[in-house]
Amino acid sequence: MPAFAASAPGKIILFGEHAVVYSRPAIAVPVNMVRARAAVMANPAGPPGQVQIRADDIGLDSPLDALPYDHPLALAVHLVAEQIHVERLPALRLQITSTIPIASGLGSGAAVTTAIARALSAFLGHPLTDEQVSAIAYRVDQEYHGQPSGIDNTTIAYAQPIFFIRGQPFERLCVGQPFSIIIGNTGIASPTSAAVGDVRKAWLANPDRLEPIFDEIGSIARQARKFIEDGLPERLGPLMNHNQALLQDLDVSSPELDRLIAAARSAGAAGAKLCGGGRGGNMIALVTPETAQPVADALRQAGAVNTITTTIEKT
Ligand code: PMV
Repeated sequence: MPAFAASAPGKIILFGEHAVVYSRPAIAVPVNMVRARAAVMANPAGPPGQVQIRADDIGLDSPLDALPYDHPLALAVHLVAEQIHVERLPALRLQITSTIPIASGLGSGAAVTTAIARALSAFLGHPLTDEQVSAIAYRVDQEYHGQPSGIDNTTIAYAQPIFFIRGQPFERLCVGQPFSIIIGNTGIASPTSAAVGDVRKAWLANPDRLEPIFDEIGSIARQARKFIEDGLPERLGPLMNHNQALLQDLDVSSPELDRLIAAARSAGAAGAKLCGGGRGGNMIALVTPETAQPVADALRQAGAVNTITTTIEKT
């Protein structure tokens, strides 16, 4: 059997994180510059039926059977086998690599699951649809995030800019004019589940304070959709700044994120905000060809451990 390989992009949430968990709309786009990759090859020389999983980035080289059922890489394999009704997998090797920083708001978990689901299902002769891959990535995310909204797996499995409302079919965004975003990494790993859990506690304690914040974030996402579709990306800057102020009200920013956001704005970014769960991880800034370099330099000087520039192409 030949080897099968697949890859999946990272993602950023442009507008609406956290409020999306409470069924307000959000906008996310794939980031193709960073990717997770999976390769599956037969291992006829290995012990019969043994699935060997290797992920050098996390120092893992283990038979599937030695991992807990709900280990994220193992669970991805089990769910693919269940989906295509394979009771016993043939002896194979699964290799996973990724350039997406872990626990930093770029969707690394969903991208790894997506790449595994695509490569393994193709190897087994039953390539899964985007919808099936997305559902598997959602189930794996559920183990680790508690109650994910589903925006990560959807953006990554379909690899499209999307307008997303939890529990509704997602909509593909038509991008009227391309625009560029710089992603700045604080270098602080921050599990999404902690920030999402704290927002939930705050909401349970005081829904009257949080509901209007979620509403306002949702209305920002709707306005942003219109500007993106109408080809007016320069108008997204003030919306990003407003969204960031509301995320601060939700207490999911951090001094490091605030520092990078302030540096990006001072260097000429039209707007900037955290992206994803917050408390660490990454922020994003809206740039033009003229401001891209000064903003990237300013982010580095303000402590960003890495910057990525990504363009959202016209669709
Ligand atoms: O940190 P990320 O990239 O997994 O994004 C989380 C986005 C949240 O809205 C905070 C949670 C969710 O499930 O949508």
